[in-house]
Amino acid sequence: MRDLTLAAWRGTVPDNSTALGETVEYVRELLGRGGGLIVTVDGEPAGSVRWFPVPHPKPSWEIKRLGVVPRWRGHDLGRLMMMRIDEHGRAAGIERLQLGIRSDQPALARFYETLGFTHDANVRLSATNPNTAPPIALSKLLPGSPA
Ligand SMILES: CC(C)(COP(=O)(O)OP(=O)(O)OC[C@H]1O[C@@H](n2cnc3c(N)ncnc32)[C@H](O)[C@@H]1OP(=O)(O)O)[C@@H](O)C(=O)NCCC(=O)NCCS
Repeated sequence: MRDLTLAAWRGTVPDNSTALGETVEYVRELLGRGGGLIVTVDGEPAGSVRWFPVPHPKPSWEIKRLGVVPRWRGHDLGRLMMMRIDEHGRAAGIERLQLGIRSDQPALARFYETLGFTHDANVRLSATNPNTAPPIALSKLLPGSPA
């Protein structure tokens, strides 16, 4: 999954992205706290995403490192993985999702808005990159969750 994240993110985000400096141990530790999934096409890994619980009055997951390798972008795989997280989250009793977008990728917010996320200045992201501008925070209540 570390290599898949690198394959998806390298060349798309600037070199100072923390996604490009992750170790296998760090990815393993994060997966141990939450979970992750890999989407495949004809048996070949094409993208991945991870999540882990974060403190919030509503049971919440933070989503990290959604990525699809360049070859398979634009085939709804990113959307598919996000929809799977909704399903996993609901099954696990999760009511709310949150994530951050690099401030130099504001157009990405549109992608997440189509999935039900909205800008949320109250989100406390688990970790932010000290070398870049603060990220754009988004959150979403999962369908069926109390408002
Ligand atoms: C973002 C990403 C995961 C989308 O994956 P994907 O499988 O191509 O996404 P889908 O095919 O499900 O959806 C594509 C939609 O997202 C939009 N989109 C994808 N990346 C975008 C970007 N950087 N800026 C604006 N819109 C973007 C596309 O325009 C498209 O919209 P449309 O359906 O209205 O045409 C992929 O581009 C990627 O891996 N990027 C590099 C890593 C990254 O930036 N991850 C997100 C971190 S928050």
